[in-house]
Amino acid sequence: MRTVTRRRFMAGAGCVALGAGLAGSGRGVAAVPLAPPANPHVGRTVPLRLVAAERPRALPCFAGKTLPMWSFSDQTWLPVVRIELGDRLDVVLDNRLPRAGEHTSVHWHGIRLPNDQDGVPYLVQPPVDPGQSHRYDFVPPDTGTFWFHTHCNTSEQLGRGLMGILIVEGDTIEPYAADETIVLRDWRIDLDAGAFTDFTTERGAHRAGTYGNVRSANGMAEAEVRLPASADCRLRVLNCDPTRIMEVAVDGAEAAVIAVDGVAVPPFALDGWLLGPAMRVDLVVRAPAPGASARLVDRRGAEPLPLVRLVGAGAPRPPAPFDPLPLRAGRIPEPDLSAAETLAFTFASIQDAAAVAGDDPLAQLAIGSLCLAREEFWTINNLSWPGRDHSVIPPPLAVLDRGRSYLFRLKNGSRLHHPIHIHGHTFKVLRSDQQALAPHHADTLILLPGETVEVAFVADNPGRWMFHCHIIEHQESGMMSFLEVA
Ligand code: C2O
Ligand code: CU
Repeated sequence: MRTVTRRRFMAGAGCVALGAGLAGSGRGVAAVPLAPPANPHVGRTVPLRLVAAERPRALPCFAGKTLPMWSFSDQTWLPVVRIELGDRLDVVLDNRLPRAGEHTSVHWHGIRLPNDQDGVPYLVQPPVDPGQSHRYDFVPPDTGTFWFHTHCNTSEQLGRGLMGILIVEGDTIEPYAADETIVLRDWRIDLDAGAFTDFTTERGAHRAGTYGNVRSANGMAEAEVRLPASADCRLRVLNCDPTRIMEVAVDGAEAAVIAVDGVAVPPFALDGWLLGPAMRVDLVVRAPAPGASARLVDRRGAEPLPLVRLVGAGAPRPPAPFDPLPLRAGRIPEPDLSAAETLAFTFASIQDAAAVAGDDPLAQLAIGSLCLAREEFWTINNLSWPGRDHSVIPPPLAVLDRGRSYLFRLKNGSRLHHPIHIHGHTFKVLRSDQQALAPHHADTLILLPGETVEVAFVADNPGRWMFHCHIIEHQESGMMSFLEVA
């Protein structure tokens, strides 16, 4: 069970032990809090125009072929938006997608924003039809590494490339020698025909998802990033794939995790981190000496798969022990565990649910009616909300009291991994029954097969918040729900 032991490295106490392992001075992350929240808005207003359209492109990883990508910008297939904490984003989305009825929206993944800015069609805003526009206007309350993607027909829209990166600056104590963004994702392509293949398959939806056959980092098959030699460099690594879970590691250089899903952690040595769809990890890597190289790899396969070559460039520097600077602490509210209400959620397939139900006649009945709809395959607490749009809205999975602390017991009742995502809030990850977890926060966390993970948070953001698996085909075939904070 190599992924289990490597995933989050060591026990809660592990952070302390690992800090020492980094030859560290015991610098603590909490020692350097952020300034108080920038509210009311004190920063700039940053205008952003996103024009969703088909723009044929030949990314380096497409082996010379031009594909009918969907993207937000004429300038680049992947907009990277960098703002400062306190800045207001003023966004106009234009839908110019080439197909009648292909509505869209933008979801700002991981941002704790007001509910009506969250970009989920029908649930919080009208869908944006071709020819229409929509305005988003919010001040992100947290620093960190985020991304945005549509929340409509996501397997296809994301599959064709419709996404962007959002970085909120203001979390560094001193700048690192470099700050590079590495976007990992696959593409489903017939390279001979130069065409996308099916973005979803029934077989894939019922299993771990339909994998891409062309892998990439920043659109390149063999990405190379030049870093100032022997210096401590920040790498913001994002898994923006609809399907693939990776295990990110650095071969040939020292590396530490400094943030998870945008929220600072006390730095600890990276020895493989499971990064599911939509998850982010920020690293500090000691760059190789001039001319030397190291590799960012995915260790999840039989052989480590190289994703990015990290090359040392510039003048040599005298050797120094690796003692990466932490980031400033995040500002996620601390849940009150003594007063928290506990809610249990089980993520499973209809088959798993049937097996668990055994001969309980009532359970059999409920499952029987679920099975009538052929598309429904995945469930949360035996309930299934399938569909690539969200036009038919079920009742909320749970109604939470605004301002109250909750402990969620998240159980994976299936034999597959599920990266579970909550909108509008960030979980504090408390414990797992299968592995020792380094303390961290997450808006998306992997549940291993059979695993139960406890998380806690303050339900302080009113509205209707999606709660779903981020393997998009699982989401679209039922493992999707919403929570209402009222
Ligand atoms: Cu990035 Cu509802 O998801
Ligand atoms: Cu899933």
